[in-house]
Order: sequence, then structure tokens, then C-alpha cells
Amino acid sequence: MSTSNILETIAREMLTGAVALDSAGRVIYANKFFISSFAPESTLDDIKGKGLPEFIADPGLRKVVGDFLDCTAECVGCDEHAKIEFTEDERSFDVRIVPLDEEHETSLMLFFKDITEEKMVEAIKRDFVANVSHELRTPLASIKGYSETLLDGAINNKESAREFLSIIDKNATRMSRLIEDLLVLSRVESQQMQMVSEVIDLCELVRAMVDGLKKQARDKGIEIVLDIEDGVPGVVADKGRVEQVMINLLDNAIKYTPEGGRLDVLVCVKAGEAIVEVRDTGIGIPASDIPRIFERFYRVDKARSRELGGTGLGLAIVKHIIQSLSARVWVESEPGEGSVFSFALRLTDMAAAE
Ligand SMILES: Nc1ncnc2c1ncn2[C@@H]1O[C@H](COP(=O)(O)OP(=O)(O)O)[C@@H](O)[C@H]1O
Ligand SMILES: [Mg+2]
Repeated sequence: MSTSNILETIAREMLTGAVALDSAGRVIYANKFFISSFAPESTLDDIKGKGLPEFIADPGLRKVVGDFLDCTAECVGCDEHAKIEFTEDERSFDVRIVPLDEEHETSLMLFFKDITEEKMVEAIKRDFVANVSHELRTPLASIKGYSETLLDGAINNKESAREFLSIIDKNATRMSRLIEDLLVLSRVESQQMQMVSEVIDLCELVRAMVDGLKKQARDKGIEIVLDIEDGVPGVVADKGRVEQVMINLLDNAIKYTPEGGRLDVLVCVKAGEAIVEVRDTGIGIPASDIPRIFERFYRVDKARSRELGGTGLGLAIVKHIIQSLSARVWVESEPGEGSVFSFALRLTDMAAAE
């Protein structure tokens, strides 16, 4: 293989856009990544001779390129590389501009690295930290406020002292619940939580989880009806994780169902999968919110969720666990009628064949 062949292959295959401009700013060469990113309908021959602004409208980039091309041989600075970032059509690029001084005629090479995903991850992290801080600050402010009031003398009034202490207690519980959920979420996300693959009896598990939450339901006058199909084979999964999914779905169903409502929990087998369905007669979820409820901290009604002791992390935990189990989860809901949360675990090939 000749050197030019090697160089050509590198330019063609690299996941960075590369483009060379002549001293008038016209395209002399562009690699495959550049063309597919900025002129997907064109070939190299189509774009040769055209100026960069025909593909990229960003004024910042246009200015830097213009400045470089306007630079005369004596001018300071043109022999230095420049870096610029721009965002266009929801994609972000990091551009490195490299001047090539050929007989005092500056031409340029530009390298475009797609940083859309990095930017997105950064934004998600930023939002997450802001959300966590906000969620912790609110109960903390209340704890601080009421303790100060107690110290300032309210402690001597038995009745208000009791009331303030119970508010402090409620907020401390809210903070510890949030921290607990954050820890679970971070363990599931970082895959630190050791996954155990074992054959579990899904029916038994669902029955036990429902039993565990019967009291909470009964206190709200909610009836839970179990419908477990006969002969559901064992599934291979991590028991602790499936329990965590069930707890979150059942807890939500009870929380968002008014007194006197009903929950139907179903386990069955359909097309090679074991399906668990939690159906409630609760407040339901507007269609426009459904795509977002699995996001961290997303709640249809923040105040209501908080009042009911929610952290906004339950369904994010569910989503991550379901992903880690290579399973599926989905929701159907009708505001005012109720919601159905379902998840499906694949049966082992042997069990599915039976
Ligand atoms: N069964 C349900 N019925 C109605 N709304 C629900 C149900 N489950 C979840 N939601 C909505 O999805 C949001 C996110 O759920 P989740 O992550 O568990 O947080 P939360 O701590 O608020 O329960 C809830 O705040 C609520 O608005
Ligand atoms: Mg919840």
C-alpha cells in the first residue's frame, strides 16, 4: 500500500470532518465525514470550488475563517491554530482551523469534531446537579427555619413545639428518601450493583410484593386484585432489581389512585415473554407527559408528588433497571381513568419453547 493510499484511507474513514480551502476560501478537498455532515446530498465534485458558508451558516466560524484568509504574510497570528465551537441544527461541532502558508498565500484546513453527545451529557449533568441541589435545599430550608423558631422560644410552647418538630421530622424523612433513591439510581447507572442472574419465580415475587404493600393500600381503601396465570415459567433475572421495579410501580399506583380505587396486578406469558401489568384506577397521566415521566425528577404535578412523599426518581430507577435486564417497560394511561404500567422479561429459550 502506498503512502498516498494510506493517507487517503485515513482521510476517508476518520470520524472527523476535514476540509481544505484555497486562499479565496473555496473548497479544494473535503472528506467523507464532512460531506455527510454538512452536504449529505452532494459529492466532492459538487462542493469543490464553493465557499464554506454554503454549507455552514454559523457567523462565528465565517468570521474566523475570513480573518485567517484576510491575513497577509506579515501579519502576526496567522501561523497559529484556532479553535471554535458552534451549534447548528441541534448539532455541535468543535472546529480546529489550521493555516497552511504556501508561498505567502494562506490556505486553510479545518477539522470538525462532532461534540453533540458530549454537550448533551454535560447539559444533563448540569441539570441533574441543579435539580438535586434544589430538591435538597427546600426541605433543608424548612428544617432550618423551624429549628431556629424553636430555639428562639417556640420550644416553650408545647403545642407549637410538637407541630414544628413534626414538620422537621417530615422534611428530614423527605431528604433521606431522596438520598436513598439517589444512591440506588447511581448504583444502577454505574452498574456497580452486582447483577445476579438466577431463575426467579415471577409469580411468587409479585405475590410477595403485593402482600408487602397491602397495608399501605388498605389504609387508603384501595383494593388490590391479583390475576396470575397458571404455569408461568421461571425467568432469568436479578431478583432484587425486579423487586425494586415492582415496588416503584405499585407504590406509584397506590399513591396516584384516590381512596376507594382499585389495582389489578396481572402476570401472564405472551409471545415468549413474561408480562407483569400494574393497572390502577387513579388520576392518569396526560398524553403529553408520558414520554417524559421516566426522566429523573420529572413529575406531572410536583407539589402533589412531594405531598405524597415522592422524589421524582422512582421511574428513572425503573427505566435503568429495565435496561440493565434487557427488558421492556411501557405505559398506557387515560387522565381521570387510570394508568397501566407493564414490563416484559424475556423467557429463556427453553421455557419459551415449552
Ligand atoms: N400510576 C400512576 N398514575 C399517575 N401518575 C403516575 C403514576 N406513576 C407515575 N406517575 C407520574 O409520573 C411521575 C414520576 O414518577 P416517579 O418517578 O415514580 O416519581 P414520584 O416520586 O413522583 O412518584 C409522578 O410524579 C407522576 O406524575
Ligand atoms: Mg414514584
